[in-house]
Amino acid sequence: MSKVGIIGAGNVGGMAATWIAGLGLADVVLIDKGSGRAEGKAMDINDALAILGSDRWVEGGSDYSLLEGADVVVITAGFPRKPGMSREDLLRANVGIIDEVLENARPQVSPDCVWIFVTNPLDVITAVGYRRLGVDRHKVIGMGVNLDSSRMVNQVSALTGMARSSISAMVIGRHGQGMIPLVESVSLSGVPFPLPNDVGEEVREKTVNRGAEIVKAFGTGSAYVAPGAGVFQVVRALLSGEGQVLPLSVWLEGEYGIEGGCIGVPVRVSHLAWEEVVEVDLPRETLRALREGASGVVSALRSLGL
Ligand code: NAI
Ligand code: 2OP
Repeated sequence: MSKVGIIGAGNVGGMAATWIAGLGLADVVLIDKGSGRAEGKAMDINDALAILGSDRWVEGGSDYSLLEGADVVVITAGFPRKPGMSREDLLRANVGIIDEVLENARPQVSPDCVWIFVTNPLDVITAVGYRRLGVDRHKVIGMGVNLDSSRMVNQVSALTGMARSSISAMVIGRHGQGMIPLVESVSLSGVPFPLPNDVGEEVREKTVNRGAEIVKAFGTGSAYVAPGAGVFQVVRALLSGEGQVLPLSVWLEGEYGIEGGCIGVPVRVSHLAWEEVVEVDLPRETLRALREGASGVVSALRSLGL
């Protein structure tokens, strides 16, 4: 049975563990610093698993040796946004946490382990993680624009009345205000589904602002149910190795004309690694926005001395 480690047993980490173990994908170890949060959350989730009829187990603790044998490590440790805060505001605080987490986690796992970053600001944190780990770039993934794509599907469904299961829509770029919902490329059961301009604009605006809308509604903290499902989606693709294409943040080496920096692009996922960036024709403006997003990540890395 596969084993997934999740560092950060807060809202997103707990929910990711629930989806992964609850839907029978893998056993999970949850790690958090001190305080019993990971232990408590593991007990709570295991009790739910008995109700759901899942035979997977979740173990919790603060000892990083729990990670031994993990195929995938997910990092959700870090501060979430408060109302009015951008994901970038979180950068410095969360980089310190990521450094500490990686220092503790790295010695516990094999070089084959895949690392999924969730902590914000997502693309910069993923790039920091890649640099710090020094592993093959195909082993490092940022989860963000796959979540945004699910939000886009919901907006298209709400505004057109089409069933969400028939809608295919993708967001690329940074997981942040600069994300790029590909409104011109929406399809319905494989058939192009051009949206009228005003609908396309509304889909774009509502997709970009969905995370902030949820932060505002909560008053404290950010979304976690769909982010947990977003983690599940990536882990499932990595464990099945079926070659699913997902929009994910990865380190680019020339793809889309981008040299360095992590940014969300369509990626084919194979068994325990991402395989290749799928390069599709993008309108010139979209390509320019994608490149700008990546250069913002590189600038942030420089500001951190990386
Ligand atoms: P949370 O506050 O509920 O959980 C964070 C957890 O990290 C806490 O349990 C905390 O104790 C733990 N933590 C902090 N420092 C640690 C350390 N040094 N070692 C181990 N654990 C540590 O926050 P939530 O809502 O789970 O969000 C976590 C992160 O994920 C935030 O940065 C948030 O912005 C980001 N996020 C990213 C999304 C994405 O799509 N990429 C979506 C939603 C959230
Ligand atoms: C979200 O998109 C805050 O990144 C988090 O909900």
